[in-house]
Amino acid sequence: MYQIDDLTKTYRQGKRVVRALKDVSLTIGDGELVAVQGPTGGGKSTLLQMLGGLDRPTSGTVKLDGKDLAGMSDTQLTAARAETIGFVFQNFNLIPTLTALENVETALVPSKIARQSRTARALAALDSVGLGDRGDHLPGELSGGQQQRVAIARALVKNPKVLLADEPTGNLDEETRDEIVDLMVGLWKEQGLTVVLVTHDSVVAARTPRRLRIAKGAMKELPPR
Ligand SMILES: Nc1ncnc2c1ncn2[C@@H]1O[C@H](COP(=O)(O)OP(=O)(O)OP(=O)(O)O)[C@@H](O)[C@H]1O
Ligand SMILES: [Mg+2]
Repeated sequence: MYQIDDLTKTYRQGKRVVRALKDVSLTIGDGELVAVQGPTGGGKSTLLQMLGGLDRPTSGTVKLDGKDLAGMSDTQLTAARAETIGFVFQNFNLIPTLTALENVETALVPSKIARQSRTARALAALDSVGLGDRGDHLPGELSGGQQQRVAIARALVKNPKVLLADEPTGNLDEETRDEIVDLMVGLWKEQGLTVVLVTHDSVVAARTPRRLRIAKGAMKELPPR
């Protein structure tokens, strides 16, 4: 689980100092599905980057299973990301020159699994997102929703503990959005994942048991429904 204490992140933009997160304290239990909402520029992506060890806090701690991500070396952080944390982004971030299957396989390269079993696991992951028959397609030959499914398979093929998703439905039409949210909620229920889902969309947030709001770097818990 995550234990976040007094997390502050400031950025310098020329002479200006932007306080993207201010003294955020928060616990996220194992297996929770949490939505993070709030206005643009509020600090949502910054929080996700801190949870994923993609960037370091200015002050405060982000502990994952008792280990402070801020105290890890770059090598340790890279290893933690490769094994423990899956990411999904708004613009899918697939490698355009690799097939869907190869894109999913890239997530297993750091774990030094034999090539054959890498391919088998990637195929199974594609299957679990309903794309078992599209492994040889390039991203450009897939719809937006299908590309996001590939990205979800890539995030989950390593069996991470945590899935961090930044506006995963932001580029999708409503119908595709609902399919992707159904898929993510289904995977969350099946796999006991901890999921943190940043979204502007209150229809998406309405599907989660817990909601946080971040505005001007300050976080508050929204009442459970
Ligand atoms: N790398 C950076 N350098 C400087 N300032 C940054 C950087 N990243 C974010 N910021 C600033 O930090 C604040 C929070 O940004 P963040 O991206 O976390 O917002 P957000 O809630 O994700 O917004 P959006 O909904 O538009 O994605 C903003 O004022 C932004 O300009
Ligand atoms: Mg953002």
